[in-house]
Amino acid sequence: MSVTLKSADEIEKMRAAGALASQVLDMIAPHVTPGVTTGELDRICHEYIVAHRAVPAPLNYRGFPKSICTSINHQVCHGIPGSKALKDGDIVNIDVTVILDGWHGDTSRMYTVGKPTIKGQRICDIAKHALDIGLQIAGPGVTLGDIGHAIQTYAEGEGCSVVREYCGHGIGKLFHEKPEVLHYGRPNTGLRLTPGMTFTIEPMVNLGKPQTKTLPDGWTVVTKDRSLSAQWEHTIAITDNGIDILTLS
Ligand code: MF3
Ligand code: CO
Ligand code: CO
Repeated sequence: MSVTLKSADEIEKMRAAGALASQVLDMIAPHVTPGVTTGELDRICHEYIVAHRAVPAPLNYRGFPKSICTSINHQVCHGIPGSKALKDGDIVNIDVTVILDGWHGDTSRMYTVGKPTIKGQRICDIAKHALDIGLQIAGPGVTLGDIGHAIQTYAEGEGCSVVREYCGHGIGKLFHEKPEVLHYGRPNTGLRLTPGMTFTIEPMVNLGKPQTKTLPDGWTVVTKDRSLSAQWEHTIAITDNGIDILTLS
């Protein structure tokens, strides 16, 4: 299927889903403390989502067993919540996707646990800025290559690397739609953006090399060199004048 354009009405429904996903990330923040297990964070998020008449999109998605993704330290993405307790100095990405009224909202943030380490704080800050650069450059007439190039240039300029194997994605009635939104690329290449397109930007930035591998659980992606990795994500819509960030509380 090719890129679907959303109407103003549809974008309002996606905004409602996106706002709820963002509220989940606000709600969970005070729970992200030393000693809490990622399974407990999953349970709290799950209950909040279903209490708001929404569905956690990851649950049973291609066999994923939990309602959120929790990716700690050198874990890049798709970490499965479980019995592991967070400890002082950890960094953790919490990725929440909800389906509300048939529409998806997908957003993630980094959290520092207890007292942040210098390296942990640095990679979280760089990944956040990488997302912000993508948001700043995105708009009608811009290409996906322009976005990827801007993110890659910034992250590599900081001595970090951008993950190649995972990318942002179109989103709407489906969790993952066309197009693929790479976080690296060449200017003036790839799809040219037009109003009504909705997709995520979600750069994964590593403190070391870009290569990743998947753990035997079939889901958890880690850096091959075990360097720290961080990611932030928003769902956006392209408008006539720029962008609309749909995952704001
Ligand atoms: N939320 C992730 C994304 O940003 C996808 C998670 S898929 C899952 O695209 F199955 F791991 F939940
Ligand atoms: Co996403
Ligand atoms: Co996500």
